[in-house]
Amino acid sequence: MKISIIGTGYVGLVSGACFADVGNSVLCLDVDERKIGMLKAGRIPIHEPGLDALVTRNTQAGRLSFSTSYDVAVEHADIIFLAVGTPPDEDGSADLSHILAAARSIGQRITRPVVVVDKSTVPVGTADKVRAAIQGELDRRGAQVEFAVVSNPEFLKEGAAIEDFTRPDRIVIGSDSAHATQLMRQLYTPFNRNHEKLVQMDVRSAELTKYACNAMLATRISFMNEVANLAELLGADIEAVRLGMGMDPRIGPHFLYAGMGYGGSCFPKDVKALVKTAQEHARPMRLLDATEQVNEAQKNVLFEKVARHFGGADKLRGRTIALWGLSFKPNTDDMREAPSLVLIRSLFAAGCKVAAYDPVASEEAARVLLAEHGPERCAGMLRIAATAADAVRGADALVLVTEWKEFKSPDFGMLARELAEKAVFDGRNIYAPEAVAEAGLYYEGIGRRARA
Ligand code: UGA
Repeated sequence: MKISIIGTGYVGLVSGACFADVGNSVLCLDVDERKIGMLKAGRIPIHEPGLDALVTRNTQAGRLSFSTSYDVAVEHADIIFLAVGTPPDEDGSADLSHILAAARSIGQRITRPVVVVDKSTVPVGTADKVRAAIQGELDRRGAQVEFAVVSNPEFLKEGAAIEDFTRPDRIVIGSDSAHATQLMRQLYTPFNRNHEKLVQMDVRSAELTKYACNAMLATRISFMNEVANLAELLGADIEAVRLGMGMDPRIGPHFLYAGMGYGGSCFPKDVKALVKTAQEHARPMRLLDATEQVNEAQKNVLFEKVARHFGGADKLRGRTIALWGLSFKPNTDDMREAPSLVLIRSLFAAGCKVAAYDPVASEEAARVLLAEHGPERCAGMLRIAATAADAVRGADALVLVTEWKEFKSPDFGMLARELAEKAVFDGRNIYAPEAVAEAGLYYEGIGRRARA
């Protein structure tokens, strides 16, 4: 099939490369010339395991190409995916300007029947707006071309996006057109083998499904974080509680990890957008308000622990805290809404220096931190280390922020020698408290008893 994908962000690029890999002819469009230039030169703008090889293989095979021209993209395709960003507006609602601009650009150019697919996460009712934007342009041109608008939300996790795309647990197709549904079914056949995974529904239900999933997952995390904070006060261990809970098949073992709060480009934005949609319909979602509040507070829990350990925030001045991990989760360089940013903000405000190491996100983190705090403050307060061991050298304590694999089995003896205050704060509960304490270190996790 001939497909164009508008937007070469993380979703567009992964989808484009995966569709090309099963034999489709895919053209990826972006209005950002720099990005398209990079892709044409064989460079991938984001870190996603396996994506580099996938893009290279399909570009070389002539199945995947890149362009900044809507003329080329619209001419190329029978199916056009919209995968542009929907950043939050100031009030939390999703900003649809990119998606509607793309829809108009399509409407200005189509000359033969086309299926337009919303893949971006967009509020319920957006497909109607996309349809109206395309029709408006057709009317302006006095043209009559058949088109359908379909909602096909993505459920990709950063760091596992290719696996999620090629072996999906579900393929949601929201469509009011039998022809479009048939075409989408055909397109997804290579990814829909062995067990039926495609669920077809009306457009609005598909749009809401995406938000409901992310909102429930976010709520689950906030719930576990609240239980963890209580467990600490009760002398219980959230890791034992998690195991006991996860064995109930109605609850299940996944996504039950207490930590530093959820971050990333999806949960915070999507929860806010759904809260906003609910408000607009005079049906506030009280549960989601709480989910958000709990998450905001959770991002500061580790700072509070560190401050308490040193005898109060005012005692942190002049100290150095080592951070392991900066990205919002492992296997990505994505720093959007990363809890590390909140922690660093609080440490800086207390006059505390930071020595940080991340296996992949160091460069992106340095850029984001520089923009937030300015060159002077960063020069004096922030050291980006080249290795995990280098970050702890000369530091007072270590905070494990992101659970990258390479942090899982550190040399605790080395940490005990290097850390002046011999303290480890484990923001993801990846260490066995006893093992850390045995090395002579103070240990504090999330939702468990501190050990000394
Ligand atoms: C999330 C969803 O998991 C995907 O299904 C969805 O497609 C995607 O958003 C999206 O809307 O595009 P992602 O943001 O890549 O994917 O990351 P997750 O793996 O879901 O993690 C989100 C945050 O929750 C991270 O900060 C992570 O550390 C945190 N988390 C996750 C926890 O604190 N505890 C857990 O048990 C799981």
